[in-house]
Amino acid sequence: MSRPSVAKIDLSALRHNFAAAQALAPHSKTMPMVKANAYGHGAVAIAQALADIAPAFGVACIEEAIELRQAGINNPILLLEGTFSADEVELAGQQDLWIMVENDNQVEAIVTANLAKPIQVWLGIDTGMHRLGFQLHEATDAFARLRDSRNVCTSMVIASHFASAEDLDNGFTAEQINRFEQVTQEIQNIKGDSSLQFSLANSAAILARPESHRDWNRPGYMMFGYSPFNGQLPVEEHAQYQKQLKPVMTLESAVIAVRTIKVGDTVGYNNRWSAEAESKIATVAIGYGDGYPRSAPDGTPVMINGVRCPLAGRVSMDMITVDVTHLDTVEIGNTVTLWGPELPVDEIAHHSGTNGYELLTRMPGRVPRVYV
Ligand SMILES: Cc1ncc(COP(=O)(O)O)c(C=O)c1O
Repeated sequence: MSRPSVAKIDLSALRHNFAAAQALAPHSKTMPMVKANAYGHGAVAIAQALADIAPAFGVACIEEAIELRQAGINNPILLLEGTFSADEVELAGQQDLWIMVENDNQVEAIVTANLAKPIQVWLGIDTGMHRLGFQLHEATDAFARLRDSRNVCTSMVIASHFASAEDLDNGFTAEQINRFEQVTQEIQNIKGDSSLQFSLANSAAILARPESHRDWNRPGYMMFGYSPFNGQLPVEEHAQYQKQLKPVMTLESAVIAVRTIKVGDTVGYNNRWSAEAESKIATVAIGYGDGYPRSAPDGTPVMINGVRCPLAGRVSMDMITVDVTHLDTVEIGNTVTLWGPELPVDEIAHHSGTNGYELLTRMPGRVPRVYV
């Protein structure tokens, strides 16, 4: 028997989430983000499962794109951060990739490259996140240089990214949309023969800000079954968004030991948890080496045989300990769910001082992904 910790990936849930994103924005094209190993779910398998319905995919770098190409993915793939060095432009051309252009160095690399045919370019605009993209006053010059280059397709996509779309009370998203409209109007005025398309929305904006939907939407987190509003909205309002989606990953393991301890005994490293009464403790084969957060405090819910039980003691590299005193029977081999449809990853993240994005994305390779 092998170690029981496994991430089960439900590909029908994934396709359901794609359909949900598409239905929310029927006039937009839905480009799933499969960067960072598809938020930890396995980029190749996720892209393969969506290849017949997704018009394109988004990745962070050329290595991620080449991994998909080598696995036979022929859909357009956008490099969201563009190229990191000039030599990547020719490689991107050979691999038929799309490039987001975010700064003058990247413009220079494209216009001076030796390309067999023009490349599809997305122009990244900084509408306020101040991370990547051309500042508003730089955008038209950058556009004009690209427009005039024989290396660039005549169709271009103008794009920007929201800083806080998941915060529905924050007026900053509306401000970013305004800035985007202004700059795209200036670009329209000088576009010449170019045809333009636009892209703004991430998951939060797809779900709750239809006014931001453009030709291309870019869902990441919602593809994997979670609304980004958890903790941002009252529980019932969040449920309205969450019910449209199905969590894709179930992180599972099994009980590998059960013991009864006396009142006052402690459990795990640094004696963090101590028994207020005689207690039954189950040990589970999952730890921070498997992506379960070490910062999870006592009381973080763990599902054993479908019942929520509190974490008891510090998370070890390969194991956790759980207080199962209230369960009638717990045996070695019983199934344990760390997160999944019945126990949202956001809940574990909330206990652990992070968000669900991080927990999913940093899931290490040691946990086998099983596709169902
Ligand atoms: C440029 C860009 N677009 C879209 C996304 C997807 O965001 P989300 O996962 O919130 O949908 C990201 C995520 O980081 C991004 O960087």
